[in-house]
Order: sequence, then structure tokens, then C-alpha cells
Amino acid sequence: MILKHNLRGNSQPHLHHWFAHYQAHVNPDLTTRLLRKSVPVLEFIDWKVTEVREGFAASLLPLNRESTNQHGTHQAALMALAADYTGGIALASCLTGVPMAGVHPCHDDVSASLWLADMSVRFRTPSTGHLTVECQIPLEVSQKLSRRYFAGKKVFASLNVNFHSNGESVAEATMRYFAQPSIQLRPASGLEHESPIFQAKLKASARMIAGVRAQQPKHRIIRVDCPHTAAAASEHGRLLAQRLSEELPQLADLVHARTQHGDEALLGMPALKQVVMVGAGLDMRPFRLNARLPNVTWFELDLPSMLKERERVVAGFPETSSAKRQPIPIDLINESLEQKLLTRSDFDRRAPTLVLYEGCSMYFDESLNRRILTDSQPLLEHPESRLWCDFVDQSVVDGRTQIDAVTRFLRGMDELGEQFIFGCQQPGEFLKSCGYRQISVRTAGEYLQASDSVYDLYRFCLAR
Ligand SMILES: C[S@@+](CC[C@H](N)C(=O)[O-])C[C@H]1O[C@@H](n2cnc3c(N)ncnc32)[C@H](O)[C@@H]1O
Repeated sequence: MILKHNLRGNSQPHLHHWFAHYQAHVNPDLTTRLLRKSVPVLEFIDWKVTEVREGFAASLLPLNRESTNQHGTHQAALMALAADYTGGIALASCLTGVPMAGVHPCHDDVSASLWLADMSVRFRTPSTGHLTVECQIPLEVSQKLSRRYFAGKKVFASLNVNFHSNGESVAEATMRYFAQPSIQLRPASGLEHESPIFQAKLKASARMIAGVRAQQPKHRIIRVDCPHTAAAASEHGRLLAQRLSEELPQLADLVHARTQHGDEALLGMPALKQVVMVGAGLDMRPFRLNARLPNVTWFELDLPSMLKERERVVAGFPETSSAKRQPIPIDLINESLEQKLLTRSDFDRRAPTLVLYEGCSMYFDESLNRRILTDSQPLLEHPESRLWCDFVDQSVVDGRTQIDAVTRFLRGMDELGEQFIFGCQQPGEFLKSCGYRQISVRTAGEYLQASDSVYDLYRFCLAR
């Protein structure tokens, strides 16, 4: 049973029952399985959740080779890890009906985001037996936490976690958590409200795509070399790309194919003067293609925190580039793309322009996609100007593909907090309804000349 938050994150707890919450979100088998999947070190040390009640969680940190040091006692950091997740589950048990972002497969508008703000552990005696880790939240505290959360307020919870082995108290921890409806992490209005967690999510997804671009594609006809991309991805992007490629082995081919298809659109416009990168992320095209497109100005549109990350990455490149780049902060949810560009003196709507809307449509709802695509039209006055965009098939978002790898990949994206929410069965029709006329659509399968049902679920479009 899932609660849907309203815009402020409010919902109605009384409609939902503890038992349904237990079954759907916090029972020991489920939480053990989900947390071990998200945090593989928990599996390595054989940590498990043993009991969950409303406002209570217990877990077991076994005494084994993996979890102990040279003295055969538990490593302090692993005890802290066990405390973190035990306290987190106890807190989650109080938020009846609410799934946790990053743990349960769920969307922002229904989930809570929970993270540890700080902790302190007092170690009393070396832990030389299986450790029981317990967090009991007093009733009046759990009621207060739940009331605050369901009133749409931020929750700060200071929880005690106790460790016992061989019948004696081994350590005590105080864990301070922060919890909030995930939907509130999105920028409310304007650009200055991006929370650190929201920023971290954005960076993770842009780094992940850069990480996939830094992987070798399996398909022979694609080859996009870009040392800048590997630098942009960093270890974080490489790790996320590896995780998601394990779920969907076709991922590298799909992302490389879309990138190469977009490159061909750019290079196929000999008079090209401007590229508008909508949701630029860590796309390093301006560097990779500068030598071949020296007369192009790249307008890099993204949220301010992402542009900051872009500049941080670029500042680390060994050589400077002569690429003409114009970073433009924008919140596409609250601001108009058309207005942003047409009010700039350095943008010329009459110059040959390509609007590149790559790897973004799946994260925005239909009306926002429609607005972005419609708003792009007035930027494309020159007869050679074009829009490039990509869409996943509607069945991907509806969970109807019946392809396990796709389901696992989407779950991975959910866990990353970057849900796919929009897909399109007929991109040609959709683009027509946004005012475009000359439209070409190719599936990744057609482009790669390969038959794989996964490739057919991704489409690249060029329109004017
Ligand atoms: C998956 S990344 C794709 C990046 C890039 N186009 C690529 O293919 O590498 C999606 C991008 O959309 C940006 N984005 C998300 N929400 C946005 C918003 N409200 N306004 C502007 N950009 C946004 C993110 O910051 C991120 O850079």
C-alpha cells in the first residue's frame, strides 16, 4: 500500500495500517534483501534484520571473518554501519505507508528520503560474539515524528541504538536522522532552492551517463572516443554505470548509439552556428567536437548546481579548450526555455541551430516535455535548424515490456532517485502535436542494424 503525497508532501496516515506497511515495506526479510542489494557490504558481512515492530528494529551483525579485525572483534565502522541501518528501519517503521527512496522501488511523489546527519558511538567493551543491534523509539517520540512527517514538515530524529553480545552491553550509539517527503527535495520555485540531496541525485545521474559513455560499447559500428567523458564520470559515474550495465547489458550500446546519432545530426549541418544543449549534464560534446565544429557556440542549459559541477570538471582538464560555451542556468520546470534564449544578445534565432534534448524526456512528465519541445520551436527560425531528441517507449515506463533486464534497470534508476516517468509510443505524432513537421524517427535497433527487442524500445528523432 502506497501513500501519494500531495504537493507539500502531506498524506493521510489514518487510512493506512501498520500491518500493510510491515508487509509492503519494513518486514525483516524484505528490508534485509533490499538493503543488501543496495549496499553489498551488508551481504558480505552477513548482516540481517531480525525483527521490526512499530517504532522498533533489531538486526544481527554476526561475528565472522568478514566483519572482524585481527583480534576477532567487530570492526567499529561495521558496527556503525549496522547502527545506521537499524535506526533507519526503526524510523521507517513509524512512517506508515511510506516507501523509502533508494531502498524500495518507488517514485518521488510517494516516497520519503531519509539520511543520517550525524552519529556518535560509545564503545564499552570489545565485541566478541554475534552482535544484536536494537533501536527502540519511545511511543511519544514515534508519534511526534509521524505527525510532523505527515504534516509535510522535515523530521529530525535523534535515536538511540544499543549493541549487545553474549548478554552484555557492548556499545551505545546516538544516531541523528533527517527525513522528508522526496517530492520536497525538488526545487520549489526559482533556482536557489536546490537541496544538497537533490543536487547529489542530479550529479549521480549525469555522472552515470558519462560513466556509460566511458564504457566500451559492445556493438561494432559505434565508437565514441572522448577522454573528457571519463574524467567527467569520475569513479562515482563509473561505479554507477557498472551497476546499471550489469542489470541492462545493452545500456552502453543504447547510450553510445544515441550519442553517435546526435553527433551525426550536428555534423550533418555544414552551416551550423549554435547548439542548444537542454539539460546539458556532463555531455562533453563541446570539447569532443570542437575541432570539427570550430564556429559553433554551445549554449549549455541546466540547473545551477549541475552547471557548477560541469565547470568543476572542466577546470580539471589538462588543456584549455577554445570551444565557445555559454552556460545558462535554468529550471525547466519553472522557467521558459524560449524566454531564456531569446532575451540573450548572443543567441540568434535566425542562425542555423540544433536544439539537443538528449537523455532528459524520460525524467519529465508529458506536459513539461510538451512545453520544452514547443518552446524550442521559436529558436529554430533558420530553414536548416533542427531539433534532436530521444524517447523511450511507453511500455518501458508502464512496466509492460516483460523484459527482465529492463525491469531491473528501471528499478536501479528508481533506487538512484531518477525514475523514468515518460515514454512515447509514437514520437512522430507527439512531435507533430508540438508543432514539428519534417520528422524522422529511428529506433536504436534500426540505427544499429541489430535485432534485439531492447533496442526497439528506444527512439531517436530529428525534426524541424
Ligand atoms: C540524465 S542527464 C542527461 C544529460 C545530458 N543531456 C547527457 O545526455 O549526458 C539529465 C539532465 O537534466 C537536468 N535536469 C533535471 N531537472 C532539470 C530542471 N528542472 N531544469 C533543468 N535541467 C534539469 C539534470 O541536471 C541533468 O543534467
